Amino acid sequence: MTITYPLFSRSEAAALASFLASDEWPFHTGMHVTQEAAHARIAAGEFAGEHDRTHWIVADGERVGMIHLQDLGDGTPLFDLRLRRSHREKGLGTTAVKWLTATVFNEFTHLQRIEATTRQDNWAMRRVLVNCGFAKEASYRQAWPSDDGPPYDSIGYGILRSDFERGVTTPVNWNDGP
Ligand SMILES: CC(C)(COP(=O)(O)OP(=O)(O)OC[C@H]1O[C@@H](n2cnc3c(N)ncnc32)[C@H](O)[C@@H]1OP(=O)(O)O)[C@@H](O)C(=O)NCCC(=O)NCCS
Repeated sequence: MTITYPLFSRSEAAALASFLASDEWPFHTGMHVTQEAAHARIAAGEFAGEHDRTHWIVADGERVGMIHLQDLGDGTPLFDLRLRRSHREKGLGTTAVKWLTATVFNEFTHLQRIEATTRQDNWAMRRVLVNCGFAKEASYRQAWPSDDGPPYDSIGYGILRSDFERGVTTPVNWNDGP
């Protein structure tokens, strides 16, 4: 399978709105995205603004996912990664996070870390992050709202430039008290 990550431009708003509206996102706040809501977010600059950019994930010529990089003007960017249901559990998420980590650190040489937060029960995303060298850094208890019950925990991960360059994952020092 040939995978490419072309940059999204606002002239492709209709394609991105269709992508977001045509699938379910069970681990996102807002499992369903309407075309109208997606268009409003794109028009507001959410996916291609001063500090945001989005890459398509294209597999054998077909748009099957997207990576939305956020807060690139800040010291610590975050990202959202979404694959079509038909293309999950095939290794594309892992490949995409390795690609985005290398791209961000190579292109934005002042950045020292990248963060990601996911819902506690999103085991696929959590495995992807660990497999890509991210360390678990936080567990925010009951921080992820739920539509149908108590809030979920939110789990924070991060990767350091120094770890990325050395190909290691330095664990957090939890025993830093006196
Ligand atoms: C989360 C997501 C990006 C993961 O990408 P993916 O291509 O499906 O994952 P991979 O095939 O690379 O699998 C990575 C690991 O997760 C495991 N995994 C995949 N799907 C799983 C599932 N449903 N349950 C448990 N483990 C799963 C794989 O076995 C693999 O584990 P291992 O290599 O450690 O043995 C993708 O499933 C997706 O887009 N989901 C919907 C959107 C979403 O939740 N995005 C995350 C937002 S924070």
